[in-house]
Amino acid sequence: MRHFLTIKDFTKDELLEMITLAQKIKLQMKKKEFVPYLERQTLGMIFEKSSTRTRVSFETGIYQLGGVGLFLSSNDIQLGRGEPMKDTARVISRMVDMVMIRTFEHLKIEEFANFSKVPVINGLTDSFHPVQIMTDYLTILECGIENPIVAYVGDGNNITHSWLMLSAKLGFELRVATPKEYACNSAVVEEALEIAKVSGAKISFTTSPQEAVEGANVVTTDTWVSMGQEDEKEERIKAFKGYIVDNELMGKAQKNAIFLHCLPAYRGYEVSEEVFENHANEIFQEAENRLHAQKGIMVWLDNHRDEDMNE
Ligand code: CP
Ligand code: NVA
Repeated sequence: MRHFLTIKDFTKDELLEMITLAQKIKLQMKKKEFVPYLERQTLGMIFEKSSTRTRVSFETGIYQLGGVGLFLSSNDIQLGRGEPMKDTARVISRMVDMVMIRTFEHLKIEEFANFSKVPVINGLTDSFHPVQIMTDYLTILECGIENPIVAYVGDGNNITHSWLMLSAKLGFELRVATPKEYACNSAVVEEALEIAKVSGAKISFTTSPQEAVEGANVVTTDTWVSMGQEDEKEERIKAFKGYIVDNELMGKAQKNAIFLHCLPAYRGYEVSEEVFENHANEIFQEAENRLHAQKGIMVWLDNHRDEDMNE
């Protein structure tokens, strides 16, 4: 049995298989062919943080695959009142067929997975957001970009860490521009650079957004204040001055460069209103692709279950 906790746990071929499955299922859906790949399966969806896209895409996705989603906010289940993660895992995984979790420390999802009898999917932790970056890659392919040169500008956060892992695994170029004090986690960087030696991915770090974006064909960013960092808002806004993706910065990228944003976006901070609206097509195609990419991941995990897992 496999869990989808981080991108680094999969080979390049496995990741591409998931993307291919997503493309196939998306095409089927566009032709109104709803194939019940996960018939009668239940997806438990545990949320310790807010969500619009993750909740709607997983719940709709499992339904379209023939199953049902169970929304479990930590405010409503005993987890929120202190029931241990490992007990929650041992209970829920005896009743459902797959679990998606959005939580804080990455260790918590690892603990859940250790005690789970069913595959667990990371719907965002403080450290990684792998389903988002798989979605972004699907979107890049759909935009006809064969050799991505991705420039990420902003906070060295869960989104950036997942970009690092995907670039390292698949071998595309990634340039990361962050303020020095908001750089990526050094252990994640080291790991990504090690993996990149095998794939040949060119990964670079700078504090200059201009340097990162020069000649890129994909420009992306994320909020400067992630969930759980609300208290740091004022100091973060000061530290990220100059990191807004605006028309001037986009002007350094290739002429037909796309702009992606995982959303929610905060205009006037990490992205200008103009850049956001000029690239709304790609951004909302990316948002829709959450639905399709995650179907590919869920079906792939279902195909790789141990046969005796539900004994
Ligand atoms: N991008 C993303 O994960 O959005 P939500 O927080 O709305 O789920
Ligand atoms: N980095 C953001 C991503 C939101 C989808 C956060 O963790 O809040």
